[in-house]
Amino acid sequence: MDINNVNIEEIVRQVLSGMTGNGASAPAASAPRAAGGAIPKTARVAMLTALEHYDIKEFPIPPVGDDDILVKVEGCGICGTDAHEFKRDPFGLIPVALGHEGTGEIVAMGKNVKTDTAGKPVKVGDKIVTCMIFKDDPEITMYDLNKKNVGGADVYGLLPDDDVHLNGWFSDYIFIRGGSFGSTFFNVSDLDLDSRILIEPCAVLVHAVERAKTTNILRFNSRVVVQGCGPIGLICIAVLRTMGIENICAVDGEQKRLDFAKRMGASQTVNFKDFKGIEALAGGVKDAFGGHLADFAFQCTGSPVAHANIYKFIRNGGGLCELGFFINGGDATINPHFDICSKEITTVGSWVYTLRDYATTFDFLRRAKGIGLPMSELITHRFPLDQINEAHKTNLAMAGLKIAIINQ
Ligand SMILES: NC(=O)c1ccc[n+]([C@@H]2O[C@H](COP(=O)([O-])OP(=O)(O)OC[C@H]3O[C@@H](n4cnc5c(N)ncnc54)[C@H](O)[C@@H]3O)[C@@H](O)[C@H]2O)c1
Ligand SMILES: [Zn+2]
Repeated sequence: MDINNVNIEEIVRQVLSGMTGNGASAPAASAPRAAGGAIPKTARVAMLTALEHYDIKEFPIPPVGDDDILVKVEGCGICGTDAHEFKRDPFGLIPVALGHEGTGEIVAMGKNVKTDTAGKPVKVGDKIVTCMIFKDDPEITMYDLNKKNVGGADVYGLLPDDDVHLNGWFSDYIFIRGGSFGSTFFNVSDLDLDSRILIEPCAVLVHAVERAKTTNILRFNSRVVVQGCGPIGLICIAVLRTMGIENICAVDGEQKRLDFAKRMGASQTVNFKDFKGIEALAGGVKDAFGGHLADFAFQCTGSPVAHANIYKFIRNGGGLCELGFFINGGDATINPHFDICSKEITTVGSWVYTLRDYATTFDFLRRAKGIGLPMSELITHRFPLDQINEAHKTNLAMAGLKIAIINQ
């Protein structure tokens, strides 16, 4: 498996650097600091040149300026946003180098680059990720969500093409420009490759759980429903589980996904296909909790019907976090009296994450691994860069969970 190879490479590198007493990744004295291995003159970039079509192009690697970072890409997940761009180009970016859920190793960097966005030192050899959240207003983006935080000039993987070209993680190398242009980025050297690829979707759930906690209803011994067991719901269960919440009922119609939910930490599962009508389904959830409705529920599907259903699973005075609608999925019909007022339900919405959540996510991933959750299995398909068209088609066919491009 890929992950084992990566671990072995890492261990060998650490042993070698220990033997020489001089880290293989130690910076050279002069700027830009560069890794021992030769940096090629050119890099391959998967460029989306037309709807549903990438070309693999070759571009020169620009000289690394005082504020810049050159990263050798190890891998990058395919996100729902990439799928939208691939199919419809809603942002009008074509031609574009996509890929924002990527990670790799710093192979050269300018003398002014000393720390990552969290203030952690960085050096050549470190593994990093970029983040979609701006650094321009840290007071806002570090602690609260604001609606100007996604999209814009410095989001690598969603940049219009320019004369640098190495702007997305679906490539051999990504060129992260510093100074006023710069992106937020984090040193995540202590996470394995799969964990690093999963950071972005995991941050969505860390944020959702933080939002849920603001209701004061979610507690250690809460009974929690997670509706929808795609990657988002499955990671939701993992985040809850690492927090010590154990009474989790997963609801979906796909038995394979429900089985995976159990391995991710769900204590019970309910297959909605086993029930006729919402009253029977709510009864099924109640039975799963030994005759109780849920204290709290997370809505992790993009289905308006599922939104309308979920209130029926929640007890009087309970809470709901709705996070299933990253984009407009249409209207849902609920009964405000029965579903919200008379039950006194506290509802929070959740959308993407803050920079603070990003940093918390690194700890979550370490903990998830520590308690043996099968996080790596969320990555069901791995493709090399030159098969990126096939990778996107596999993603659109919804054949797996997370699809990733992995470089050799
Ligand atoms: N809030 C955010 O910032 C954010 C971020 C990313 C994704 N999302 C959204 O989260 C949603 C889930 O993402 P995903 O990648 O896991 O999607 P997915 O399509 O892989 O999974 C959705 C799951 O919901 C199940 N489902 C559908 N209808 C259901 C119903 N009525 N009851 C129970 N289960 C039902 C499906 O069987 C599927 O397993 C998407 O709509 C996505 O747009 C939100
Ligand atoms: Zn994404």
